[in-house]
Amino acid sequence: MSPLPRMNWDRPHLLGLEELSREEIVAILDLAEHFTQDSRERKKKRANLAGKVVVNLFFEPSTRTRMSFSLAARRLGADVLDFSPSGSSTSKGETFIDTAKNIEAMGIDLVIVRHSATGAPHLLAHHLNAGVVNAGDGAHEHPTQGLLDIFTIRQLRKRVEGLTVGLVGDIMHSRVARSNIHGLIKLGARVIVCGPPTLMPDGIEELGVEVSHKLDDVLPRCDVINMLRIQFERQRSGLFPSIAEYARLFGMDSARLQKAKPDLLLLAPGPINRGVEITPEVADGKHSAILQQVTNGLAVRMAVLYLLCGQPGG
Ligand code: CP
Repeated sequence: MSPLPRMNWDRPHLLGLEELSREEIVAILDLAEHFTQDSRERKKKRANLAGKVVVNLFFEPSTRTRMSFSLAARRLGADVLDFSPSGSSTSKGETFIDTAKNIEAMGIDLVIVRHSATGAPHLLAHHLNAGVVNAGDGAHEHPTQGLLDIFTIRQLRKRVEGLTVGLVGDIMHSRVARSNIHGLIKLGARVIVCGPPTLMPDGIEELGVEVSHKLDDVLPRCDVINMLRIQFERQRSGLFPSIAEYARLFGMDSARLQKAKPDLLLLAPGPINRGVEITPEVADGKHSAILQQVTNGLAVRMAVLYLLCGQPGG
């Protein structure tokens, strides 16, 4: 395994990409490159987090984020605790902060938190001594998803600067969209957000993006398209007439893909709704890097854990 570089990293938490500088984002991506090699040599473990305890505090469902944080922490030698609200004492009325403080009292170094409320990780960072990583807060940010998306673009297109990236779908409810926007713009990409007017937040242009409601118009200009999931769990009803109409106007299928650049890179954060945002033949087709994103998520999360609480030399 390659030795890890010493890093100057002053932040105790990772709460969002909005607060990171371009240099900090590049430092995480560069460090993640070291860990992609670890993923290939998967039996080997590092000891950079030996003696540390990481807790997954997930108040919303997750497959990719939770499992890859667990695996990343274990690959670095940490102990990992998993919290789920079902079966916990939150059902007896214990508050979010009390739950977190009681878990911290067991000797926790880092909390990975996902919550439906915007700002929940920021609240924890205020109340705990442990480091906090935002694993998704409401419709606000999902910074490690943004980082792994950008890592995948950089890995497969060898650059981010100068590329045109389309974020397509439910922009209003997407924390993935916000983290992508902040990160991509800092790294010099042009970002187009595209979706139905009812799923487009007011004032999104102020983040420096172009807004479109016609996928067929923007598709030929894009080097990368990130197909966002419709966040049914965050929507009130009636934001678009039907799923079939949504799929016709904003879904990616083989016919629509003919209008794209031949080397279009197609991303999706997952979980995907096959046949809604993306058809099976496209999700599994040659443009798709959906599973590569998941693979890269492990390396990116190892980089984040190492920066926040790792010791060099392990
Ligand atoms: N992309 C993502 O956050 O997936 P999970 O909800 O499965 O963690």
